[in-house]
Amino acid sequence: SVVKVSSRPISTMATDKEIVGSVKEQLAKLFEESLRAAFPDIEDVHPMIAICNDSRHGDYQCNNAMSLWNKIKGQGTQFRGPQPVGKAIIDNLPASEMIERCSTAGPGFINVVLKKQWIAKSIERMLIDGIETWAPKLPVKRTVVDFSSPNIAKEMHVGHLRSTIIGDTLARMLEFSNVEVLRRNHVGDWGTQFGMLIEYLFDKIPNWEAASAQAIGDLQAFYKASKQRFDNDPDFKERAQKAVVSLQGGEEKYRKAWTQICEVSREEFQRVYQRLGVHLEEKGESFYNPYIPKALDLLNNKGLIQESEGARVIFIEGKKIPLIVVKRDGGFNYASTDLTALWYRLNEEKADWMIYVTDVGQREHFEMVFAAAKLAGWLPQNENDFPKASHVGFGLVLGDDGKRFRTRSTEVVKLVDLLDEAKSRCKLALEERGKATEWTAEELEQTAEAVGYGAVKYADLKNNRLTNYTFNFDQMLSDKGNTAVYLLYAHARICSIIRKSGRDIEELKKVGGIVLAHPDERALGLHLLQFAEIVEEACINLLPNLLCEYLYKLSEDFTKFYTNCQVVGSAEETRRLLLCEATAVVMRKCFYLLGITPVYKI
Ligand code: ARG
Repeated sequence: SVVKVSSRPISTMATDKEIVGSVKEQLAKLFEESLRAAFPDIEDVHPMIAICNDSRHGDYQCNNAMSLWNKIKGQGTQFRGPQPVGKAIIDNLPASEMIERCSTAGPGFINVVLKKQWIAKSIERMLIDGIETWAPKLPVKRTVVDFSSPNIAKEMHVGHLRSTIIGDTLARMLEFSNVEVLRRNHVGDWGTQFGMLIEYLFDKIPNWEAASAQAIGDLQAFYKASKQRFDNDPDFKERAQKAVVSLQGGEEKYRKAWTQICEVSREEFQRVYQRLGVHLEEKGESFYNPYIPKALDLLNNKGLIQESEGARVIFIEGKKIPLIVVKRDGGFNYASTDLTALWYRLNEEKADWMIYVTDVGQREHFEMVFAAAKLAGWLPQNENDFPKASHVGFGLVLGDDGKRFRTRSTEVVKLVDLLDEAKSRCKLALEERGKATEWTAEELEQTAEAVGYGAVKYADLKNNRLTNYTFNFDQMLSDKGNTAVYLLYAHARICSIIRKSGRDIEELKKVGGIVLAHPDERALGLHLLQFAEIVEEACINLLPNLLCEYLYKLSEDFTKFYTNCQVVGSAEETRRLLLCEATAVVMRKCFYLLGITPVYKI
């Protein structure tokens, strides 16, 4: 059952102004009425509205005529084909301020041309009421976005960086759509490696309890050394294995050591999150551990768990190997934790959409976990029904050599260093353009951060997430082409146009008076208005690149407009400045949703 958004208490809304709904949605309302009036006997026809592929034919199209015709043609209808069906739909449209004209084309497509006065009014209203009134309406109330999720003591690698960037954007888009988002960091903080780490801590830093967490130093090196010891020293190995038992049994000393080790990792992760401006709430694997027996009981009671080669497993139709939920040694694993976490999110946290952001390599794992949850009746059979679980997979990060991204020394890349390099390169570029003398040190620093981190994020987000992407500083930091640098500069340029006009934009907003007389004004205006439906599409399909495409097209539309329509000093100055302002507002919201900090001057 789909949870209707309107049942959400109004207090969680980001705005007290009414959310107007996307153009598509508003058109759908009109066509719904017309379909009902023209075909009163046919039930359950939902208007199918899409953006026109070819803008010469119209702005939007309604695609119901064909399927309606197929429904009625055998039944002695008075209609003689899909075209007349389309015509009847047009004739029954209620009067509205929205539509200029409709026409049928091809096998009954209805092309819709919007009234430019209506487009102009909608933009004026947004400028006054705020862009929150353009938020999409989604059929969910509460989602869990499980993202970033690095592993304690192991490296946080570029895969985790992708997960962090993509997950944060999805969370932001959902939050903007007035959905409550639980931003979950499902860190790998449980497992057999901790026995080894704890024993090594006892050996290496005898006064570990008094020592600061920093005494461990580089945790990755610490991990490597302890692993080496584990592999080569049978006595140590035995102690490590006992330590796991003590830890899982909740023994105070072991618990404390574990906490300390986790804390070191956490601080390291935080340095990355702080740079990226990403906020997460940690509920690591260990959190679910006490719930696992109960969750497995539920699955067992449904007869889903079987014995196989000494392990306990769930067989999934179409999968060669079963999902192992209890290992041969009786221990739990990644799958037992994820099944339990899913149960917890559904039942304790009452989420209606669970979203998991990891590399595509884990697709199989999640397919099996979700399939098991369906077998158990935790999730509905139909993919499109809520509550729903979705795996958001992404491809690899490649280096210039086309191989998995690494630095020259074949050592893994430290994320913090990577981000810092993006920033310092930006700073250098700004200094080369003389900004060090023009700006304060703080301005220089902040701009370098905004552009540098923004560039890394945008380079990741602009491609379909399933494709591998090549990490290349020169490309992502170029001020030409589809890059964050180019877009941030485009935004700054708009701001400077407004500033240089010397006009008070807040006063202009009150006066209004947008007129979309020039075709490039109209094209820009229409594209602005399509913001809500693009965000909606990006949310529903979990594809941030759709928003990037939208933003890039917006900057192109703006450039065209600005090239062909004089703004400052023209007779149309006021209305065109408002269009500049609206573009800047929408661009800023796009940046915000992509986790990019806008800059106002260049
Ligand atoms: N820690 C895992 C890894 O680094 C990712 C966890 C993703 N989330 C989950 N619920 N399994 O690959």
